[in-house]
Amino acid sequence: MQLSETMTEMDAYLEASLLRDDPVLEQVAKRSQEAGLVPHAVTPLQAEFLAMLIRMTGAKRILEIGCLGGYSAIAMARAMSNDGYILTTEIDTRTAAIAQANIDASGFSERIDLRTGPAMEVLDHQVEAGAVFDFVFIDADKVNHRNYLEKALKLARPGTVIVADNIVRGGGVLNGDSEDNNIRGIREMLAYAKTLDGIEMTALQTVGAKGYDGMALFRVTA
Ligand code: DHB
Ligand code: MG
Repeated sequence: MQLSETMTEMDAYLEASLLRDDPVLEQVAKRSQEAGLVPHAVTPLQAEFLAMLIRMTGAKRILEIGCLGGYSAIAMARAMSNDGYILTTEIDTRTAAIAQANIDASGFSERIDLRTGPAMEVLDHQVEAGAVFDFVFIDADKVNHRNYLEKALKLARPGTVIVADNIVRGGGVLNGDSEDNNIRGIREMLAYAKTLDGIEMTALQTVGAKGYDGMALFRVTA
């Protein structure tokens, strides 16, 4: 068996072992796929990882940068307490319409605020408004990964946890000469991270149904 098949089968085995049936997220995945969205949503196991981080931190004000079909936003919304809310951004109007339909069907339309437009504009407005978030999930275009981290830090307080997706991309991020703007964006984020003070940081390389990738984890301390 190819390693990639093993990774995908292993994901299915872990899901079957550890996760309960989840008709809500299954429907979101199904509708997103039928609508032709790119298959870039987090996996069920990753969604539960985000959900557990939210339960562990007690995050109530959640910012998601990059909504896609709403899969991760809905997973995070279920993990937050009843007074929590999520602000999520989606640049593509057609994708946003699919996400909004998924959010409506999930029953979270009151607590997930989907803003359609370039994430940087949405984030600038949030900074101007003095917004503060407890938890940030960065998962939009990778070109702006560094800029999203910088904005997330402007919207953070000591204790805010930030997760950044897709920091490995099959190992492509190793290539400092890459002309792939996604790779460059991630490398810029990692170079920027290196300059930061008052923040704890680590990363996990991951394999699974979405191949070989990884997530960075940040916790603001000061
Ligand atoms: C891509 C984006 C993602 O957020 C992801 O999780 C996987 C791949 C992409 O744009 O290729
Ligand atoms: Mg991603």
